[in-house]
Amino acid sequence: MQWNIDSYKNYKALQQPIYEDENKFNEIVNELKTYPPLIFAMEARELKNELAKACTGEAFLLQGGDCAESFDEFNANNIRDMFKLFLQMALILQFGGSKKVVKVARMAGQFAKPRSSDYEEKNGIKLPSYRGDIINSYEFSESARKADPIRMLKAYTQSSSTLNLLRAFSVGGLADLKQVHKWNLGFVRRPDIDNRYADLTARVTQAIDFLECCGITSENDARLKESKIYTSHEALLLPYEAALTRVDSLSGDYYDCSAHMLWIGERTRGLDDAHVHFLSGVKNPIGVKISSNANASDILALADKLNPQDEAGRLNIIIRMGAEKISNLDKIFKELAKENRKIVYSIDPMHGNTQSVNGYKTRKFDDILDEVKNFWHIARANNIIPGGVHFEMTGQNVTECLGGSVGVSESDLARRYETQCDPRLNADQALELAFLIAELMKQ
Ligand code: PEP
Ligand code: CO
Repeated sequence: MQWNIDSYKNYKALQQPIYEDENKFNEIVNELKTYPPLIFAMEARELKNELAKACTGEAFLLQGGDCAESFDEFNANNIRDMFKLFLQMALILQFGGSKKVVKVARMAGQFAKPRSSDYEEKNGIKLPSYRGDIINSYEFSESARKADPIRMLKAYTQSSSTLNLLRAFSVGGLADLKQVHKWNLGFVRRPDIDNRYADLTARVTQAIDFLECCGITSENDARLKESKIYTSHEALLLPYEAALTRVDSLSGDYYDCSAHMLWIGERTRGLDDAHVHFLSGVKNPIGVKISSNANASDILALADKLNPQDEAGRLNIIIRMGAEKISNLDKIFKELAKENRKIVYSIDPMHGNTQSVNGYKTRKFDDILDEVKNFWHIARANNIIPGGVHFEMTGQNVTECLGGSVGVSESDLARRYETQCDPRLNADQALELAFLIAELMKQ
């Protein structure tokens, strides 16, 4: 079928809310259609060019952020801390791995969540599941769990303010390499990570001083003081994504202007379903999550549909099989290597490693690391480039994932368990992982 902004409606769309008041829903979608785009199509093309370099191993994709952004946790400090964490991780990876790091945040739009069950039961009461703040509320009551279309407007506004601050941080001085020692989050509790980071910043400062002697300063070369961060989210709530999809006046192509990059989740990547159809028609870089349920032909069929011209930088396959099942990737990569498609392969070591401990949804640092390492080894053994990582993380000092050298224990979980959805790495754990990945990149 010919693609247009609304043609997805002819396909099966999984994980969509039911809005009771259709008139109100239509009114809000029509209003959203009049709002300015959040990104400019040229930026999405620039990201595509950067990701094209990740296909060939010249660059590396660092994607991460909250599992779900929330209306309650929306404040400047949280945005600043996530931005700083990105800068720190990118510095570690770029310095250690000697590759340009492309930063893509799960921010400024990461609100809609797919759920494994439509209902949640607590103390004998059964209510619709929480589907992310853009749809309903986390609170466990009948009214809170009703899908309310007005939330789409609030998500748009929050995304727009978040993006505004990210853009300000990118060019306003915070990202200046001369400020590298100020990117610390102030609570890193592990002296070894602290020392390693201090050592790294000292070396960066020395290099910057040397460049200054050669006449290259952040005053005359913006590359030393600016650091672009792109935005991304799961394009789950199709009416919202469609309302923000626009024709780019320069190219005449359609772009989903809710974020630079969009991805399709594991639960909605059906080849003939609405999400794949919708994203096949927009030109942004696209990610697809892949669990151990998929085989090589599933991935190739998705690539045929989403990237028929095999353009480098268009498609990111995000592997998330879990530490236990990542060995299945070997067979898949053996077949994909023969095809030699221009795909960025990255690893999400979060979503296949979720487990329940003392009633908390958590993940073990060791499982996360294990999956990353095995992804690397399997890729390398099959001549596939490990092109990036995809994490759920936060700049806050939460206790949601177990382990790491900071040693979050089972009894710590209750202390600062703040996620509304999946457990995130805290800043200590994320930095530790970045150091370990830089080692893998060096090998
Ligand atoms: C997510 O990234 O938060 C998510 C739900 O991932 P997946 O589709 O891989 O389960
Ligand atoms: Co998640």
